[in-house]
Amino acid sequence: MLQVAAAPGLTTGSAPFVEEARHRGELYITQPYELYSEENQESWRRLYRRIRPRWELYANEPFLEGVEALQLPADRVPRLSEINRRLEPLTGFQTKPVSGYVPAFLFFDCLRRREFPTTVTVRPPDRMDYLPEPDIFHDVAGHVPMHTRRTFADVLVRFGDCAHTAVEMTREVTDVRERDRRLINIIKAMSRFFWFTVEFGLMKGPRGICAYGSGLLSSFGELEHAIESPEVQRYPLQLEWVINQGAEIDHYQPLLFIVESFEHLFDQVARLEKWMREGKLNNVAPGLPEISESDLNSFLEAVVD
Ligand SMILES: [Fe+2]
Repeated sequence: MLQVAAAPGLTTGSAPFVEEARHRGELYITQPYELYSEENQESWRRLYRRIRPRWELYANEPFLEGVEALQLPADRVPRLSEINRRLEPLTGFQTKPVSGYVPAFLFFDCLRRREFPTTVTVRPPDRMDYLPEPDIFHDVAGHVPMHTRRTFADVLVRFGDCAHTAVEMTREVTDVRERDRRLINIIKAMSRFFWFTVEFGLMKGPRGICAYGSGLLSSFGELEHAIESPEVQRYPLQLEWVINQGAEIDHYQPLLFIVESFEHLFDQVARLEKWMREGKLNNVAPGLPEISESDLNSFLEAVVD
């Protein structure tokens, strides 16, 4: 029987446009909107329709306002150019389409320039509930509405500053092994902080505890679990705990941290940088995440002013 090739689409794990860019070594790409298949569009519609009522229950208020301000579409994959047109006047942030994993320094440095590396692919329909790697629903529906809020956007920029400080703090260390060891510890501490705040953070809200972390806000199942499950440990954010706590990625988070406000979160990033300067991040507890060679190299090769 004659097989008709399906439209290539932009499905995570099966997106020739993105894979070819990656093979050519191109990290920053465009969003080739015409390549989204009907299946991709339907996946977005399903993801949005399912999670919307849970956002009403569990998302923080600025996130919901951000969804409105961006006019995030319910019925189709968003065009990043449209998102940027609405986002940029609010906080200066822009989405920046990428072909895959962005090594740690480059990622944080993008944030410092108010650019958010954004995946353009859509998760496959049989993996609606969980995907370890980001897709456009995680990045645009989970992260970007938070970027409409000035204080939160400033937290991300400050985080980028921390990456620059990490380079400054370690480039003078002449013993190469000691330099790499310190840098790995600092990147681990920064990654854990990012994980337990920007990705999985909870905060106090007028209606009780709510979510601002994008890993929660883009997961239909985990969003409810994070707020409602009696099994989840929820504690006020303590910097000394967060930087020493292993971050596990392949199941619902058993431990989450609560901030008072985005001003509180901003103050904690400032403390993180202060602790880095004092050398407190040079010896954090071993454990996840593992810091890859490409993450380490991205810091070693960084050009900072
Ligand atoms: Fe994320």
